[in-house]
Amino acid sequence: MRIGIANDHAAVEMKNEIVKYLEGKGFTVVNYGTDTNDSVDYPVYGEKVACAVRDKEVDLGVLICGTGIGISLAANKVPGVRAAVVSEPISARLSREHNNANIIAFGARIVGLEEAKGICDAFFGAEFLGGRHERRVNLIDEVDKRNHQ
Ligand code: RB5
Repeated sequence: MRIGIANDHAAVEMKNEIVKYLEGKGFTVVNYGTDTNDSVDYPVYGEKVACAVRDKEVDLGVLICGTGIGISLAANKVPGVRAAVVSEPISARLSREHNNANIIAFGARIVGLEEAKGICDAFFGAEFLGGRHERRVNLIDEVDKRNHQ
């Protein structure tokens, strides 16, 4: 599996640790930056991974900013992207199983490294369950289409 990852300046260290962790698990990780502590704008990095997921350069994504909120909000503006911001592993698993989330987001200022690893384990260890959930996920796309400007 190919995983795209990006972050803002609040999450460089955590991103580096998560890249090592995921590579250690055998995943191919594509890093879309940022890689320095210079202040950057999180929407730029949210869009990079969102477009990589949309364009199938990667299968799934990880986004990390201070809270995970801003970077996921930006990613969710890309049609077909479902970025779930979570702070514990149960929600990470359910975001795959029920919502077919294709990006997991979390905050480097909110969760510790071990919790972040647990979130990744839960997310990448789960599969979309389909069935009744599929109809609901399709309805999300319809909301998008109805309200597209
Ligand atoms: C950057 O200071 C911070 O606003 C950003 O990392 C994130 O938390 C935004 O949602």
